[in-house]
This record gives sequence, structure tokens and C-alpha cells, in this order.
Amino acid sequence: MSETAKIELGGTTYEFPVIEGTENEKAIDISNLRAATGYVTLDTGYKNTGATTSAITFLDGEEGILKYRGYPIEELAEKATFIEVAYLLIYGNLPTVIELETFRSNITKHTLVHEDMKQFFEAYPAKAHPMGVLSSMVCSLSTFYPESLDPNRSAQAKDLTILRLLAKLPTLAAWAYKNSTRHPFMYPKNEFDYCKNFLYMMFAMPTEEFKVDPVVVDALNKLFILHADHEQNCSTSTVRIVGSSQANLYASISAGISALWGPLHGGANQEVIEMLEKIHADGGDVDKWVLKAKDKEDSFRLMGFGHRVYKNFDPRAKIIKKACDDILTKLGVNDPLLAIAKKLEQVALEDEYFKSRNLYPNVDFYSGIIYKALGIPTEMFTVMFAIGRLPGWIAQWKEMTENKEPIGRPRQIYTGEVLREYVPIEKR
Ligand code: ACO
Repeated sequence: MSETAKIELGGTTYEFPVIEGTENEKAIDISNLRAATGYVTLDTGYKNTGATTSAITFLDGEEGILKYRGYPIEELAEKATFIEVAYLLIYGNLPTVIELETFRSNITKHTLVHEDMKQFFEAYPAKAHPMGVLSSMVCSLSTFYPESLDPNRSAQAKDLTILRLLAKLPTLAAWAYKNSTRHPFMYPKNEFDYCKNFLYMMFAMPTEEFKVDPVVVDALNKLFILHADHEQNCSTSTVRIVGSSQANLYASISAGISALWGPLHGGANQEVIEMLEKIHADGGDVDKWVLKAKDKEDSFRLMGFGHRVYKNFDPRAKIIKKACDDILTKLGVNDPLLAIAKKLEQVALEDEYFKSRNLYPNVDFYSGIIYKALGIPTEMFTVMFAIGRLPGWIAQWKEMTENKEPIGRPRQIYTGEVLREYVPIEKR
């Protein structure tokens, strides 16, 4: 007999089915709860709530396992290209040679953005944070492709929007940076692969020959793969919930970019470097900063530490830490921040406060040091995360629309005033 869960309310026992995923994860299916009992559940921050079933990414926070479509992250980061992983996430299987070539060349055809969009960039102040620019620009794409406003079009029409997004996000991201330096925009060079093309648009100058170390291109490829999806995190849930209202894909991704920006989520990579720089400037006394992080009267948190789901280790952080050592050695970079990060990690991992709360370095702890070594400016770190995460957001949006999920609309428990009589202003 299949497992059920029993809830007793007011002397009546109600039974709810237990559903099991392919990795043996179990959930009590309460979709009928309110209709059957009149009650709702309360779970702020959705710490115990499965918002959907999904066949894209599996992660086991206790064991530190992460797989995309069944493939371990360690293997993909080692052997695959980012575009291959994007195809895998979005379409469910690793592409054949022909599928990959078609996908790659279709992306290449859409890397340009409409010339009118250049004027938007120019209207932003040079100090504009690139995440604000990126989110606005991605939403603005919808105004150039009005046919995309209906997300329920044919599969081909959806695919075209997907290709446009994958192709144009690096261009928009690089131009956001160019605009902040008031340097001329570099148009994409389609003979370069995805990562090299991005680096070209970021760093090339019309007056100089463009050269890039293949180590830098490989590192970027790895980082993008590690960021490509992470099941129902804050930004992905945002993409799914915005998309569930049948808002178009550009608007949904733009909302995801905004959600990613926060320092508790993707914005943490910028915060980590700023924190390490502060510790360095302060003399590098790691113990002092660990004490601050533990002090409940102090708002300081160890950025890049802790995770909602990983309670043992973040497998991405493990890969990134090793990649960080390798890349810095290959590039001949000697960054004192790396030494501080390692010391901080060591002290925190031995400290009872961090041990008892299962706080470990997350993906953002070392990624900033690599980005810094690659020459990426600090304000662009979260933008890099967004480029990496795009295939995951798209895959999750596509799955949500194909499964015809209902509009996302949580309930609440109201705790405000019950009934008050209106008092005219002169009597208040
Ligand atoms: N430094 C110090 N204490 C911490 C930290 C930290 N980085 N993270 C959590 N804690 C403490 C909390 O104060 C809390 O302590 P308490 O039980 O005594 O009150 C306990 O650990 C649990 O923390 P919560 O905030 O309740 O855990 P939650 O799952 O809600 O938050 C989060 C997870 C947001 C990632 C948190 O660990 C954090 O703020 N980390 C720093 C920011 C960061 O690195 N974010 C990137 C996450 S990865 C990503 O999004 C890509």
C-alpha cells in the first residue's frame, strides 16, 4: 500500500498522499488540504515547501550532490562546454554533434541587439549598477519582439525567444560594462565561441588587437556551467512565479535577474570580495571578523557562507576552490585575498558557531576571486552569475509552461486589525 500522511484537526483525521521523486525524495501532497479541511500551511521562506515537481536539477543538501538532468556537476564542469550544458538543461538531453552545431550557429545569428537599444545604454549614468541595467534591458527586449508577448505560441516561436535571450544576454552584459567606462561598444564577433565572444565584447578596444589567454576562456566556461541551474532557488522561483501569470519570457527573466541581485543570493559574490578587501585593509585579522559574524548584535555576516539547502558542503564550492588555485597559478596571479579567504574558511570551519549551524562556504565564496583574476570588475560579478544561470531559468520557465502549472499565488495568515471605523481627518 502506498504511504500516506495523517493530519488530525478538530477530532477528524484526514489522509494525504505521499509522493516520491526518482531520487527517493518524499513529499506530503497537500494540494487538497484547504478544500478538505479549511486550513492552509504556514512556511515563511518556503523552508519546507516543494513548489513544483521538476525533472531538471537534483540536489541533495545533506550529501552535497548536484546533478543536471542526471549528470553529476563534477563531470559536466570537467568535460562539457557551457553551450552543451545549456542545451542539456533546456531540452533534456546532451546534444548530438548536429544538434549542438545547429544550436550554436542559431545562437550566433542573434547576438546583435537592435541599434535603438544603444540609446538606452547611453541614457544611464556611468555609475549605474550593471545588474539594474541588465534587468531593464532584458525586459526592454520584449518591446522589440512584440510577438513574444504571448508565451503560448508554437514550440518554434518559443525556441526563437530562447535563442535570442541566450545570444543577446552576453552582448547586453558587456555593453552595460562598456557604458560604465564610457568606452565604445564592441559588436559581437561570431567566429568566437560563447565565452570568448563575451570576453571580446567586454575587453576588446577598436584600436588594439584582441588577445585572450585560453585559460581565461576555460575558466569562464567552467564557472558558467557551475552556475547554470540550482533548482527552486530565489531567482528561479521568481522566474517561474512571474511566468506563471503568463508574462512573457523576457519579463520573467528580467525579474529573475532582479531577484539574483540581492546580497543574500547572487549578489553575495560581489559582497565576498568587498568583505575580503575590507579584512585585508583592516590588517587581515581573520579571527576578529569571525567574532563579528557570530555577534548577534552585529549585522555583519560572513558573506559566501551558509546555504538554505546545503548543510554539509556545496559541491560547486569544492570545484571552484580547486579551480581557483589552478587558475591563479596558471595566470601567475598572487592575490592576498585568496590567502585571507582560505584562512577565513579554516577558522570558520573549526568554530562551534559555524559547525553547529552547518555553515560552509557556498559557490560565491571563491568565485569572486577567480572573476577578479580574470580581470572582471567587481560590480560585474553578479552579472556573470546571471549569464551562467540563464539556461537554468529558461529550462525552468519552459518546464513550467509545458506542464501548464497554475498561477503561483500563496495564501497568508492575516494578523492585522479586524474592523475599524473610518475617522475623518480633522478628528484624528
Ligand atoms: N554568517 C554568520 N551567521 C550566519 C550566516 C553567515 N553567513 N548564515 C547563516 N548564519 C546563521 C544565522 O544568523 C542563523 O543563526 P541563529 O540560528 O543563531 O539565528 C543560522 O545561521 C541560520 O541562518 P538563516 O539565515 O536562518 O538561514 P537561511 O537558510 O534562511 O539563509 C543564507 C541562508 C541566506 C544563504 C544565509 O546563510 C546567508 O545570509 N549567507 C550569507 C550570504 C550568502 O553567501 N548568500 C549566497 C548564498 S548561495 C546563492 O544564493 C548563490
